[in-house]
Amino acid sequence: MTTTAENQKKAAEPLVRLTDAGKNYGSVIALADVSLEVSGGEVTCVLGDNGAGKSTLIKIIAGLHGPSTGTYEVDGAPVHFSSPRDALERGIATVYQDLAVVPLMPVWRNFFLGNEKRKGPRMDIAFMKKTCKRELLDMGIDLRDVDQPIGTLSGGERQCVAIARAVHFGAKVLILDEPTAALGVKQAGVVLKYIIQARERGLGVIFITHNPHHAYPVGDRFLLLNRGKSIGYYAKEQVTLEELTGLMAGGSELAQLSHELESAGGAAAEAAQELEDDVSELGISRQPPTPGGS
Ligand SMILES: Nc1ncnc2c1ncn2[C@@H]1O[C@H](COP(=O)(O)OP(=O)(O)O)[C@@H](O)[C@H]1O
Ligand SMILES: [Mg+2]
Repeated sequence: MTTTAENQKKAAEPLVRLTDAGKNYGSVIALADVSLEVSGGEVTCVLGDNGAGKSTLIKIIAGLHGPSTGTYEVDGAPVHFSSPRDALERGIATVYQDLAVVPLMPVWRNFFLGNEKRKGPRMDIAFMKKTCKRELLDMGIDLRDVDQPIGTLSGGERQCVAIARAVHFGAKVLILDEPTAALGVKQAGVVLKYIIQARERGLGVIFITHNPHHAYPVGDRFLLLNRGKSIGYYAKEQVTLEELTGLMAGGSELAQLSHELESAGGAAAEAAQELEDDVSELGISRQPPTPGGS
């Protein structure tokens, strides 16, 4: 094979590829037979309810633990990471929901935490402030003052600083664990904007969320998980927002729950009515209750 052909092959390989990956915790099967590819300049959304296996999946990709079954490849070659540091060295960075920031430290200090720039025996504070300010501006984040404690920023802004930081320190793949979960509509919109920025810079983004309304506008591919299994893997042109929402809501499961609440009466019946409305709004047909079923 010629060098050019080798280069072409390399360029064609996805940054991250999981094939039939599974993970057991003792006898608990947290993940089974999940396949996924992430390429540069693409956002892959991983959707699923609590317990679906989302965290287990990103822990594999982030290098916290290997898969029990299946394979994990980076740039087309199998990897066996023994820690998140190994993954980070290959350009795979993770921004966790509970960001590891020091609230009282200035924004620039948090930006460079663990990667401080030195000039002789001292920290090069001027350089770090300037670089932090510029990197944030490049992502479209205009902070009045990078000297303010990071704790004074909103949740959305803090997520954005973490994204800019990963980009600055050379991430090729960015894993975002539910970055919009605790945010209001406007703040979530800001984070979604930076997800698009990261994609435009050529990063492969893995965006974990349980909200199809957040996933659909920014996603190129969608992996849906339910109880550790893939219930669908779609390119954007293969699925509509309505279909995604319907799959997420788990259709009949939701209807069954509303039926159970209804029979409980009182406040539960009210909740059931709300659920019922959601179900009809989503266009999911309600399954008839199973005869003699619970
Ligand atoms: N360390 C663990 N030990 C045992 N079971 C676990 C462990 N971590 C996760 N699980 C189980 O694996 C399943 C998937 O969990 P998780 O990946 O955290 O889902 P999600 O992030 O989508 O909520 C759940 O049933 C959970 O209880
Ligand atoms: Mg989780």
